[in-house]
Amino acid sequence: MEQREATLIICKPDAVERGLVGEVLARFERRGMRLLRAELRQIDNGTAARHYAEHVGKPFYDSLIAHITRSPALLAVVEGPEGTWQIVRQMMGTTNPAQAAPGTIRGDLAVSLTENVIHGSDGPESAQREIALFFPDLASS
Ligand code: RTP
Ligand code: MG
Repeated sequence: MEQREATLIICKPDAVERGLVGEVLARFERRGMRLLRAELRQIDNGTAARHYAEHVGKPFYDSLIAHITRSPALLAVVEGPEGTWQIVRQMMGTTNPAQAAPGTIRGDLAVSLTENVIHGSDGPESAQREIALFFPDLASS
């Protein structure tokens, strides 16, 4: 049988505040991905620090944590064929919306580097780690 793969997306607080969650999730659904989980949750500081541990010490770290924790985010686990994390990343567009291609989520919906609408796991290992962090009961053993 075809290998299925799950990855984590976060509609960041700016997306929830601007009412863009339906638009973002619809794009993944239309592309053929299936929602395994979706939950509106305000991320606490400790969880945000674990999630963004790779960025500790960078100049933008404090604003990154302040943004992701400031109000509820929509956390979702989406499932699709092998390589789904990569399709999600392509659909998101590049980190800086000023350079993101039209047709991508950031290219269509975002203008700010900090408030760039969406997070997506950047590889199979990140996906496993992030799903385990936010939805421990879904973690593969
Ligand atoms: P994310 O982790 O949120 O999905 O974004 P990403 O992989 O595209 O980008 P990453 O390098 O992991 O950076 C995480 C978030 O930090 C903010 N950022 N600000 N001021 C800056 O130079 C800068 N660089 C990154 C962005 O909000 C980015 O999404
Ligand atoms: Mg990243």
